[in-house]
Amino acid sequence: MKILGTGSAHPSKTVTNDMLEHFLDTSDEWIRTRTGIRQRQLITDEKLEDIAVSAAQKALDRAGISPKDLDFIICSNVVNEYITPALSCIIQGKLGAECPCIDLNGACAGFIYSLDIAESYLSSKSDINNILIVCAEEPTRMVDWADRGTCVLFGDGAGAVVVGKGDNVKSIRLSTTSKQESLYQQRKLQDTPFITKDEAHGPLVMNGQEVFKLAVSSSLRDIKGVISDSHLTENDVDHFLLHQANIRIIDTIRQSLNQDKDKFPNNIDKYGNTSSASIPILLDELNSRNELRRGDKIVLSAFGAGFTTGACLLYW
Ligand code: ACO
Repeated sequence: MKILGTGSAHPSKTVTNDMLEHFLDTSDEWIRTRTGIRQRQLITDEKLEDIAVSAAQKALDRAGISPKDLDFIICSNVVNEYITPALSCIIQGKLGAECPCIDLNGACAGFIYSLDIAESYLSSKSDINNILIVCAEEPTRMVDWADRGTCVLFGDGAGAVVVGKGDNVKSIRLSTTSKQESLYQQRKLQDTPFITKDEAHGPLVMNGQEVFKLAVSSSLRDIKGVISDSHLTENDVDHFLLHQANIRIIDTIRQSLNQDKDKFPNNIDKYGNTSSASIPILLDELNSRNELRRGDKIVLSAFGAGFTTGACLLYW
């Protein structure tokens, strides 16, 4: 598999840390020093599918491919306004594509899981040549906006890549460790005349410190795994693109790997945590600024609710 094009899109509303101080017992200083976040883009009147289509269209344009040339669409998403149909089906229609589609809920690691599925399809199915992966997320609709421990962390957005047959992806590692209690959100389903159990309904619940520790240990394991699979060392890697959840998590991983700051590009200050969209958004920013050279070795690594984790080593 190789990446043929990248794209990203964001809602238009910018919400700075100062703006949160008006209705939350928080401060710009606390949020910046504990997370690295200065502002985030939030959905107001936009629909997530339109932001997703915008990111996807940019990736298609960059790849020089029309929507009709797509053979498969994978949409990584945790929540959106539709329970059914899948968001990928809505995106397919708005793009004018005609291929089969699936949604995948791998939480914040969804982009790496999507890459793995795309790699399997491209290597095993001769009639599949072009796959769109679009990660579209609105985590700001999951949190309680009176809970300063979670709502300050997230932003909305979409990142997309078009992938095709090639030999640039060298290794992908995935893991899942069931840990519901550390990070979850429950919703109540429609009542029926037969339901007798109690069902919970509420915002995202997170044990921040536990997630922090899990994120660091699992990311280090995954990153070292894909590097050793490729017979390389940490020093051979040109760019580490990590899930943008907290700059302190990124810095802790970087220090453990004993690498320079400039190998760990980040944009968490501008967007906060956009769940599975965070890595493809960052990838698109670097690509748009021509900061990726042909042959550069790139490690992607993410973790999320589940607890799902994954890493990928690819050559640009
Ligand atoms: N503003 C001011 N004070 C706050 C805020 C806030 N926004 N949030 C929490 N505090 C307070 C707490 O109430 C607590 O106060 P207390 O000491 O009086 O009880 C104090 O700050 C310290 O709280 P901690 O939770 O210990 O702060 P910590 O340094 O652990 O930082 C954070 C919290 C930022 C959530 C951190 O634990 C973290 O980033 N964890 C990982 C989270 C993560 O990655 N989530 C996403 C993962 S998966 C996905 O992407 C969906």
